[in-house]
Amino acid sequence: MESRRRSSLTALDRPDQWMIEQGMAGHVLPILDQAGKTVVKVFPPKPSEIVQNKKAIQAVGNRKKLFAREREGWVGYVEWENYPKKKAQAHKILTSQTFAPCPDYQWGPIPGTNPVLAGDDFKAWHAALGGELAPVADDSWKTVLEEKHPEMLHLLQFPYNGEPPKRLVAAKAITPNSLHFVRNHGGIPIIDADKFELKLDGLVKSPKSYTMEDLMDETKFPRMEKTITMQCSGTRRIEQIALYAGQGDEVPQAPWAEGAIGTARYKGISLKKVIKDCGGLIDHAKHLELYGVETYIKDLEVGNYVVSVPWSKVKANEVILAWEMNGEVLPKIHGYPLRVIVMGYIGARSVKWLYRIKAIKSPTLAPVQSREYLYFNQQVGKYNLRPIDGIQIQEMPVSSAIMSPWTKQVIMHDGKIHCKGWAYSGGGRWPERVELSADGGFNWYAVPEDQLSKKGKWTWRTWEIDLPCDVEGWIEIVCRCWDNSLNTQPLNVRAAWNWGLHVTSSAHRIKVYSVNKTRTLTQLKLSQFEQHNIDLAPLTRYDAVPGMTDAELGEYWEANPRDVDE
Ligand code: MTE
Repeated sequence: MESRRRSSLTALDRPDQWMIEQGMAGHVLPILDQAGKTVVKVFPPKPSEIVQNKKAIQAVGNRKKLFAREREGWVGYVEWENYPKKKAQAHKILTSQTFAPCPDYQWGPIPGTNPVLAGDDFKAWHAALGGELAPVADDSWKTVLEEKHPEMLHLLQFPYNGEPPKRLVAAKAITPNSLHFVRNHGGIPIIDADKFELKLDGLVKSPKSYTMEDLMDETKFPRMEKTITMQCSGTRRIEQIALYAGQGDEVPQAPWAEGAIGTARYKGISLKKVIKDCGGLIDHAKHLELYGVETYIKDLEVGNYVVSVPWSKVKANEVILAWEMNGEVLPKIHGYPLRVIVMGYIGARSVKWLYRIKAIKSPTLAPVQSREYLYFNQQVGKYNLRPIDGIQIQEMPVSSAIMSPWTKQVIMHDGKIHCKGWAYSGGGRWPERVELSADGGFNWYAVPEDQLSKKGKWTWRTWEIDLPCDVEGWIEIVCRCWDNSLNTQPLNVRAAWNWGLHVTSSAHRIKVYSVNKTRTLTQLKLSQFEQHNIDLAPLTRYDAVPGMTDAELGEYWEANPRDVDE
């Protein structure tokens, strides 16, 4: 057997050999190339030294000047889309050196830290570009600490990605601002609203610029207020990761749990009215490209955050330009002073720190739209996939999640397990029925209507149920939702697993250990613990109270002999 690129430790001389053999560290296994006459083992490369071609970097020019702030009062704003040469210069800087790869967080165990992942690669890229971008990582973290709830779970420190703890995800039908999840692809710009301008150009009759005051002028643009659930297509990604490793970039594939969803009341104006104010679309424009201020780096190519939405969606008054969230000025972290809210679409289209809208003919080719948020067929493999093989994710399918209890928890109950959670469907559909099963998905109990929060065209429903459960031991509680179009969820993760690890739409499953206190023997055992002052130990630990005395045992076997007579 040949072998290529040996790492310092081969798979044969490692102390963690047993773990490797059991698939607990798949990333160190050599790839087996069995295509030729002999099998070739391709080992993962050795960690390479970080190198820098200082001459090439210096030749690009003064980074402070090249990547300076584009506008006064717009901290963190470097314009890229108008300057192809500047993009090329940034690319040259990033490709004239090497950076540490992001950690192999999908192979486990996931770090037990908060922030879970640091985002060292994005921090290093920003530092390498310097200029206006140099302080962005530190400044953004300050904003996180200022604006978000102290209990937030920080999945990625930079670009900041965070979700509320399970206990608080669906505690209220409207998510408080400090607890609303945050999904960023770059830094958090700090924009002075008095110096703000929104540019509307491209294929419109009369391109225009608007100040916040212009947009808030009620004589021109009627106000719009709506309660809207926003969901990131990465919600519940951790279940896909737990099944199989997939695409492994920290930002596109942040390891979200069930909290990348939140509901808020947004106030602003309809984008349709602003397009009309510019004289409408011309030359068969069909899409609107939306630009966010901050810098996003994809494959070492630098740009602003850009996506697009179809005109049909805007025309239906389903795209808001919002400046208020739950009665408060839009927090900086959620896009101050102006963001887009696209009803019923994945969060990615709801651009924060919006500064430009451009009318165009086809969906934008910008990376977030055309190279990410793609839903691949399972059998399109890493080495043959093309962006066109993935469906561009727009509306989220119906989904749901159990927020309480938690998986692996021991639940003592009196025949009913109290469960809580959320259910949601994208595209303006809504949850009609939420069902739970305590037997892995065979028998289903519907959540009573009065235990579901109010229906809304664009919103989730939070729910609670006392789920009947007679048995003791490990059970699997499953939750699924039916929306008003009678769509429901696939029953297992594998059915909807995909390489990009998006849209975990399968029924949510948790394993819990049921202890039914209405059972006589269970009651007896627990009362004995009390009598002997024995604390309840973790499930797997020995509890020193015998199930029966020897006398009781003897009596039983006397009456029920084990052996049969000849
Ligand atoms: N807008 C900008 N400018 N930059 C971003 O990184 N992330 C998008 C969207 N808008 C993003 C953005 C994604 S993927 C989501 S899910 C939502 O914002 C999250 O909005 P929130 O952070 O306000 O919850």
